[in-house]
Amino acid sequence: MAEQDRTKLTGRITVPGDKSISHRSIIFAAISTGVTTIDNFLKSADCLSTMQAFKDLGVKIDERDGQVVVTGVGLKGLTQSNQPLDMGNSGTSTRLITGLLAGQHFDSTLVGDASLSKRPMARVTDPISQMRADFTSTENHLPLTVFGRPLHGIHYRLPVASAQVKSAIILAALQATGDTVIEEPTASRDHTERMLAAFSPASIDREDHKITIHPGHPLTAQHVTVPGDISSAAFWLVAVAIVPGSSITIENVGINQTRTGILSVLKQMGAQLAIQERPQANEETEPSADITITASALKPFEIGAEEIPALVDEVPLLALLAARADGVSRITGAEELRFKESDRLAVVAEEFHKLGIAIEELPDGFVIDGRKSWQVQNTDLDSHQDHRIAMTLKIASLLVPEDVTIRDFDAVNISYPSFLADLQRLRS
Ligand code: S3P
Repeated sequence: MAEQDRTKLTGRITVPGDKSISHRSIIFAAISTGVTTIDNFLKSADCLSTMQAFKDLGVKIDERDGQVVVTGVGLKGLTQSNQPLDMGNSGTSTRLITGLLAGQHFDSTLVGDASLSKRPMARVTDPISQMRADFTSTENHLPLTVFGRPLHGIHYRLPVASAQVKSAIILAALQATGDTVIEEPTASRDHTERMLAAFSPASIDREDHKITIHPGHPLTAQHVTVPGDISSAAFWLVAVAIVPGSSITIENVGINQTRTGILSVLKQMGAQLAIQERPQANEETEPSADITITASALKPFEIGAEEIPALVDEVPLLALLAARADGVSRITGAEELRFKESDRLAVVAEEFHKLGIAIEELPDGFVIDGRKSWQVQNTDLDSHQDHRIAMTLKIASLLVPEDVTIRDFDAVNISYPSFLADLQRLRS
């Protein structure tokens, strides 16, 4: 059997629920009144950190017939946890929950694992401090103590597009006196805004890059259906694009346009893509589609700061795509990647060099010279305990004849526990 026949991917697949939307579904369900049911909730380590935190804050959360069922306590009904809230590895849980706890009537302490404890929190505590919130931490890292306080609305212009920061401010603003206005330089993912509009239409107004939060309106329980995570689907989109002979359909992928940068780049590269949109209940519902992709020759691409928010988690995969394209690609404006679960610019360059990929690390991105094959230097790869790096390296390894090992591959459980099983299914 030819090498490409052993590695090619074929068939249909459904990827697990969206991580960002799963976090938000628990948060809004918890602070609304009534019983929210959630379909296709992502049961990965990060989302389970959010779920456990709300259980610790006195919210009843059950699982029934595959649905997550949350009995909301309202914005003022959370109770103080009798232990620190453990955020595990999850930056999204930490930043969003910090915003919410800042306006509560009790104090809380947030802790996390070694990687999360190195990630910057000032980006959230600074704006919320302007709302008169109060925190203590060691140099803006976890452990972080949030002293619940009455908050005041602010007008805040985000220095960097960040959905986590924006969402933290929105959650604080819901409890403030007076409106809050948030402006973003470039649109980051808008799952919080959509979900808030569903739970409490009167609480939010949106206009271009400007969001206004009107506190004081009730949030009412909803039924939430979480679409498949495009950031998980991205591993298969890239694998198919670069492994000759591959062709798959991924069903029910979230295609919120603040997340679809990877599809735009693939199109720009000349990838063979067909996107079949599914019917959408209303404007605020998250849109989804079935996506079919077939391997083809790829042209190089260039992306900069404007494009990064819509593909921020896919940059390591885009570097891999570039490594297979016919020519030199350039990714810039991606300095935020240095503050993710690992320094993803440094780590991608280090691990790709081992695979013989011609990649140059820039302060804010990469220059990558694509080749049809690579001269592997070292088969001992390392995920640096970062889920997206672990999966990117696994996809890269499909293209080399050598057996490679990936240290701490278990990190995939953060966002995609069934990754290896799905890979096996697509290769059989
Ligand atoms: C996320 C926002 C992004 C993204 C992260 C999830 C979210 O982070 O990288 O994986 O769910 O809000 P930033 O807000 O720091 O860009």
